Amino acid sequence: MTTLDSGLQQRMADKIKLLDSICARARIMPVITIAREEDILPLADALAAGGLTVLEVTLRSAFGLTAIRRLREERPELCIGAGTVLDRQMLAAAEEAGAQFIVTPGSTTELLKASLDSPVPMLPGTSSASDIMIGYALGYRRFKLFPAELSGGVAALKALGGPFGEARFCPTGGVNTENLTRYMAQPNVMCVGGSWMLDSQWIKNGDWAKVQQCSAEALKLLD
Ligand code: 3PG
Repeated sequence: MTTLDSGLQQRMADKIKLLDSICARARIMPVITIAREEDILPLADALAAGGLTVLEVTLRSAFGLTAIRRLREERPELCIGAGTVLDRQMLAAAEEAGAQFIVTPGSTTELLKASLDSPVPMLPGTSSASDIMIGYALGYRRFKLFPAELSGGVAALKALGGPFGEARFCPTGGVNTENLTRYMAQPNVMCVGGSWMLDSQWIKNGDWAKVQQCSAEALKLLD
């Protein structure tokens, strides 16, 4: 954190604490892309009924910002983050919509710097030691590992634990019920993310019971 002044260091420490509590609450963080506006509330309700109450809503569809806004207003008991934040403009829009945390698929110095002044914590995406070093230089210590399976999965997390002893990760991308317990057993994993509980056919058919059941079954694996 040598490049940050003491005010920014304190702010980053506060945000790391906040991320730790958000990720501890989540354990599994669904990555949601809303295709139809009418799906926003039933989809979130199904996840919550299955025990998943911390949601990453991606800005990949036209309804991402609307979903964040509506969930913040109509489901204040949930914790709503914005995902697929790629640049400064998307960061500003996500914060303006009320996102309680920000997730990015990768790391650029520009984007990570843009978030430094904000009280809203960011989980920068990393897939390599170099990405983590971009974050480290700016004081970041909590990251998304993306795409987790393609980036080496559990073996990569073990290896990264050497040089980056303070880093904690949310592996996402290829995580599912087959491998999630192996990820969660790693000391540098705080939660996992993924979209396997949001099968596109279930959503298309409004089969919310399946979303709920799949979420609950995944959480049960962690008991
Ligand atoms: C993400 O953006 O984090 C991923 O799309 C989620 O990965 P998954 O679809 O492989 O679970």
